[in-house]
Amino acid sequence: MALHLGDTAPDFTQDSTEGTIHFHDWLGDGWGVLFSHPKDFTPVCTTELGEVSRLKGEFAKRNCKVIGLSVDPVSDHEAWAGDIEETQGHKLNFPLLGDADRKVANLYDMIHPNANDTLTVRSVFVIDPNRKVRLVITYPASTGRDFREILRVIDSLQLTDTHKVATPVNWKQGDDVIIVPSLSNDEAKKLFPNGWDEKKPYLRMVKQPGK
Ligand code: BEZ
Repeated sequence: MALHLGDTAPDFTQDSTEGTIHFHDWLGDGWGVLFSHPKDFTPVCTTELGEVSRLKGEFAKRNCKVIGLSVDPVSDHEAWAGDIEETQGHKLNFPLLGDADRKVANLYDMIHPNANDTLTVRSVFVIDPNRKVRLVITYPASTGRDFREILRVIDSLQLTDTHKVATPVNWKQGDDVIIVPSLSNDEAKKLFPNGWDEKKPYLRMVKQPGK
């Protein structure tokens, strides 16, 4: 069954390029990104894994670990890693699950049979410290993802959790944000003592907290 936002991310134990992963233990008390790619030794996937390696520090700044997956065995991942470093200039620096038995792919509904009945699509799950699924994205095999967008969503989610603000269309770091509708004006006054720009009673813009 498909996972929905707010569901608990299923736990699993699976082999990886960094040894056996017990997923919930591996997540610890931080955030996590679990993403699948269709197949090792393929061009788009090669560029994606190089990019995620390049961005690992950005994920770490957000207290977020990253872990990849395909239904290839760990031995293939290990053989492919050299190509990723050679062609993308970044050494693979996060675990790749070897999900040859499709245990995790099935748990997370990463195989979409009408697209391809054996390979995983490009799924992304962002998981919060309570192990709840907070973002689900699915891309086709032929389209490489923009992982800066995943970072942007994590920033937005963390702002919501910490400061009770939502982020508007095309928001980027430093732009004004929106006081969540569930917060009354009386409650908002405590959190935003400098006030806000009330464009409509339901559209209350405020400077990004912490900026
Ligand atoms: C790729 O990563 O380039 C790819 C993988 C599977 C199907 C199509 C493209």
